[in-house]
Amino acid sequence: MALLFICEGEDPRAWETPLRTEIPDLDIRVWPDGVGNPDEIDVVLTWKPPRGLLATFPNLKAILSLAAGIEHILRDPELPSGVPIARLIDPGLKTGMVEFVVMEVLRHHRREPEYRSQQLSGDWKLLRQKLSRDRRIGILGLGHLGGACGEILCRFGFPVSGWSRSSKNLAGITSYSGEDGLFAMLEQTDILICLLPLTPDTEDILDATTLGALPRGAMIINAARGKHVVDDDLIAALNSGQISGATLDVFREEPLPSHHPFWSHPDIILYPHAAAWTLPESAASVIADNIIRAVKAEPLFGQIDVRRGY
Ligand code: NAP
Ligand code: GLV
Repeated sequence: MALLFICEGEDPRAWETPLRTEIPDLDIRVWPDGVGNPDEIDVVLTWKPPRGLLATFPNLKAILSLAAGIEHILRDPELPSGVPIARLIDPGLKTGMVEFVVMEVLRHHRREPEYRSQQLSGDWKLLRQKLSRDRRIGILGLGHLGGACGEILCRFGFPVSGWSRSSKNLAGITSYSGEDGLFAMLEQTDILICLLPLTPDTEDILDATTLGALPRGAMIINAARGKHVVDDDLIAALNSGQISGATLDVFREEPLPSHHPFWSHPDIILYPHAAAWTLPESAASVIADNIIRAVKAEPLFGQIDVRRGY
């Protein structure tokens, strides 16, 4: 069984021991120098594969994303048809995302950015604090990650709503779907969290219209993909006070170019796509399970619907 690792910038050696603990005889090969005979490749594990490369393995049984997101694979116009693709559903990623979202929600809720700027100016001033029950959270995308974040945020006492394609029945979370549902949720959201997959339907979803539908002074957290946000519209909304603060983990272009206005905007907290990492010590067992499923021609865990885009 041969697995090809196509992940520029990732150290393949970190995966060898955890994967071989699960599948001792796994033949691990690394693109570009260690591919060997392309006919022998059974499964690809990848992050941002070069366009056209996946089509060069004629006996491929599965394409596994090293990330929860899948758009970095689906952007390939020569993607081999009929080869199942799986996104990563990994407990470590989920924990990482929940930690990040809780940290940023609490930061905005507890007015931490204002206290930090008061510290810089030597200002000793208590700022009025809201109860968590009076801070409404809206989550775009109530899937594996959005649902987990919603569940924990409910425990802090925040009223939590979520928007997804299909309506959900999650304890304590008000579910919205469809375009009407989107705007119904936005108009009662004080902190909006984006955890949608990037698809043609969700690209540019955070634009002047949706940002303008939030109550004045709302805050946003984008931990999904940079292309969900129309950058100029967000800057305008921040400058007008419509949005009072934003946490951005992901960007249209990564690394974020040094001249980009997000770097220096006083109301933006910025991270270098750090919300949730794929760690071999957690993800290897999920990936190994999918390698075995692929070789047995069984449905993959997290298999995506290519037409739907996630
Ligand atoms: P997921 O389980 O597939 O959940 C996606 C959610 O979005 C589902 O609830 C889905 O609705 C909803 N959705 C998709 N298209 C929609 C549309 N057009 N309208 C309304 N709702 C829609 O994905 P996940 O594992 O939670 O991951 C979400 C995203 O997080 C990933 O795609 C990735 O881009 C991002 N991410 C970022 C980081 C980071 O470090 N910044 C780390 C991990 C993941 P249904 O439930 O009805 O299908
Ligand atoms: C990271 O961005 C992921 O999609 O897992």
